[in-house]
Formats: sequence, C-alpha cells, structure tokens
Amino acid sequence: MPKDTLSIKDNSTGNEAELPLLNGALGTPVIDISTLNKDLGLFTYDPGFMSTASCKSAITYIDGVNGILLYRGYPIEQLAKNSTFLEVAFLLMNGELPSKHELSTFQLEINHHSMLHEALRSFFDGFHYDAHPMAMMAGVVGSLSAFYHSELDMEDPEHRRISAMRMLAKIPAIAAACYRHSVGWPFVYPRVDLEYCENFLNMMFSLPSQKFIDQDHYIDPVAVKALNLLFILHADHEQNASTSTVRLASSTGANPYACIAAGISALWGPAHGGANEAVLSMLAEIGTVDRIPEFLARAKDKNDPFRLMGFGHRVYKNFDTRAKIIRDTCYEVLEKFSKDEDPLFELALALEEHALKDEYFIEKKLYPNVDFYSGVIYKALKIPVDMFTVMFAIARNAGWVSHWLEMMAEPTRRIGRPRQLYTGVQKRDYIAIDDRFSG
Ligand code: ACO
Repeated sequence: MPKDTLSIKDNSTGNEAELPLLNGALGTPVIDISTLNKDLGLFTYDPGFMSTASCKSAITYIDGVNGILLYRGYPIEQLAKNSTFLEVAFLLMNGELPSKHELSTFQLEINHHSMLHEALRSFFDGFHYDAHPMAMMAGVVGSLSAFYHSELDMEDPEHRRISAMRMLAKIPAIAAACYRHSVGWPFVYPRVDLEYCENFLNMMFSLPSQKFIDQDHYIDPVAVKALNLLFILHADHEQNASTSTVRLASSTGANPYACIAAGISALWGPAHGGANEAVLSMLAEIGTVDRIPEFLARAKDKNDPFRLMGFGHRVYKNFDTRAKIIRDTCYEVLEKFSKDEDPLFELALALEEHALKDEYFIEKKLYPNVDFYSGVIYKALKIPVDMFTVMFAIARNAGWVSHWLEMMAEPTRRIGRPRQLYTGVQKRDYIAIDDRFSG
C-alpha cells in the first residue's frame, strides 16, 4: 500500500528524512515539514508563499485552475444567487447557514452593536479632510482596541464571539464616517429598521436636511442588491495577504481590533484590495478608447512597470469565478445608474474586450479579476474612488473575523514566526569611529 509520506534526501550530507503527507478534505495534499529542521537541520525557502500552506482551515476552499470557490462547502455561485451578505457572514463565522430564527437574532445583535462610541466618533476630527479613507479606517478600527481591551478575555469563546460581532457591526459605520469626514457632512447613526447594506448606503449618503422629503431615497434596490453581491464575493478568500496578516498578528495574542487594523493596512496595497481603486486611476490615465492599444503595449513591455490593473490573479489562472458572477450585475448597475453619463464605463468595457482578445493576456491566462468590475460598479453607485478599498474591507472583515475565531479556538496556537535565508555581512568586529574609512 502506498505510504502517505515523502522522502527527502540532502545530497550534500546524504541524510534523509521521511515527512508526512497531509490530505485535506479537498485540494492539493501538503507536506508536513514541521520536523525538517530537527531531522535535517534545514529550513525551506518560499518567497511569496508560492508553495506553502500556512495553516489548517475549514472556512474557504479555492480551486484556482477550475475556478471553484466554496464558503464552508457552498459554491459561491449559489450563495451569490440566493443569499445576503449577513447570512454569508453568519455562515463563515459559524460554519452553517442560519435558521430563520438564528438569522434574525444575528441581525438583532448586529443592530445592537452598530453604534459607535461618541468618543470614537471624535477621533475623526484629528484627520485632515483629505486623509485617505483607508488611513482613517486602519487608525479608527485599531483604536477600537482602546475601548474594548481590559474586559476582553481572549480565552473565553463568548468574549471572542462578541468581539467578532462588534467588528462586523461597527465597520460600516466607521467606513461611512471616513467618507463623510472627507466631505464635511455630519455622521449618520445606524438605523435598526434597515438591513446591513441598506444601512451602509443610508449612513453614506443620507442628508439630515432631506429627512422629511424622502429619507430612503438613497436605498435603491438595485444598489442594495449589487452591494450584497459584491460583499458576498469579497467576504473571504482563504489565506490571502490581508487574512494572513490578521492571522500572523493574532498569533501573538494581540487585541482583535488591532489585528483587523493590520489586515486593513495589508489590504490597502494595489496588488491586493487597492486594485479596484487602481483600476479607476488606470482608466483615467488611459482616458480614451483609442489609447487602449498604447497601454496594452505598455502592459506587455517587460521594461515598463505598468500593469493592467484588475487583470490577473495569484490563484485563479483560468478565470476569476467571482468576476464571472459580477459581470452581469455590472451591466445591470450601469444600465440603471450611468451608462451614458460617464465615458469611463465605455472605456472599461472596451479595455475588457481588447485584453480578452490579446495573445499576451490569453497566453499568460490573465483575465479580468473581481476588482476590475467591482471598481466600475462602485463608481456607478457614486462611491468615491478612494473609498473602493474601504468597501472591500467592509466585506473582507467577515472573513477576517471568521479566521480570527477559527485560529483562536485552536487548542495549540503558536506564534507565527517565519525563518529567513540571511544574505547580509558575516560576523565582523566593531571599528571605532576615528578608525573608519571616511573617503
Ligand atoms: N498586466 C500585465 N502583465 C501581467 C499582469 C497584468 N495585470 N499580471 C501578471 N502579468 C504578467 C507578469 O508580468 C508575468 O509575466 P512573466 O511571466 O513574463 O514574468 C506573468 O503575467 C505572471 O505574473 P505574476 O506577477 O508572476 O503573477 P502573480 O501571481 O505573482 O501576481 C497579481 C498576481 C499580483 C494579481 C498580478 O496579476 C497583478 O499585479 N495584477 C494587477 C493587480 C490586480 O489586479 N490585483 C488584484 C488581485 S485580486 C484581489 O486582490 C482581490
């Protein structure tokens, strides 16, 4: 019978080790190298974690080759079609879809925690009006730890659950406050009669002066449906850079709000959650349809750092299954809100068409990722471009807290501590300043 092990030989010494092969419920088996250093005196080197599983997790499964994405076993297509963001958040956090009663209790609890402490609201006054909303998000979410720390017992599952609920409940209000601070509008309190995405749209856009005209003016059903869909698609993506950051920070036992703030910071970069903002900046730079060939040529030029933002993915190498789902919604939203108003949309659709026909992109399997379309949808919904990554953060927060809960419930938790291949100067002696070469 074949053994579930892998033999490895160090040809420089002739030493050998037999390492266990671990099979998950789905997907590629992994080699357990945790004894490698003890057995052979070696570490492994894998920049960018191209071949390394950093943890065991039962939350999300991705098969990038076949375009499969499962949350707790449920295909993303089915969740996108039938579910709401809050139901998906419950699923990610708890492992099962809620009953009607569980979902309404979950919603009630979210409502209960959705207010921000008035003192926290005043933190925004310290930011300049033109501060990037992601900078405010990271700062204000991190500062939640100043409000919820001394009472928090991280070893108590109920304390951990409440922390996760607070995070889920408060993040939309913080996100909306980031926007409103930048435009100088008063902050809007959450409303218990609205569902999660409706509440967010209301906190973003409603004006006290219009209260008596049509207070639900900004809660358009097409916008609410699109937001729920986008948030579902962005809710989790297994061990991506920001989730891994949350896990690494959490492995030290740090306050959960500080850990989520670390995740927000990691999400900000244009190679990750900042891509949707970068897509819009790129479209603005391209400007007109006739300049597309010029920019495609730049994207293909190895000596030019320019990349087509919103194209390519570390995991999906045939298509981004989320992009496929979102494409139709993108057209629906554009149809309703602004197809004819903004030439940027025409440009986006033309760029998509050109790139999908281009040999370089076909050969390298570079397809539009979810963020190519999400940026376009957010723009149509009148969400300012610098808020796009904040929108991503609201959604991904559901995944972050689920991974945090999963990790903190593990009986044997270890601090995350990668090794390195040292390439610096070897040991040398200190030279007194007067004796150093001053050349
Ligand atoms: N435009 C032009 N060429 C590209 C692009 C692109 N967007 N993406 C990859 N390539 C090329 C690379 O130059 C490389 O070419 P080579 O083989 O000749 O060296 C090849 O395709 C493979 O690219 P890698 O960078 O090795 O792929 P990796 O898996 O490391 O990177 C990433 C994936 C970061 C997403 C990359 O495709 C990229 O930068 N895309 C643009 C940014 C973006 O849209 N990010 C959002 C990701 S989705 C998310 O975070 C939710």
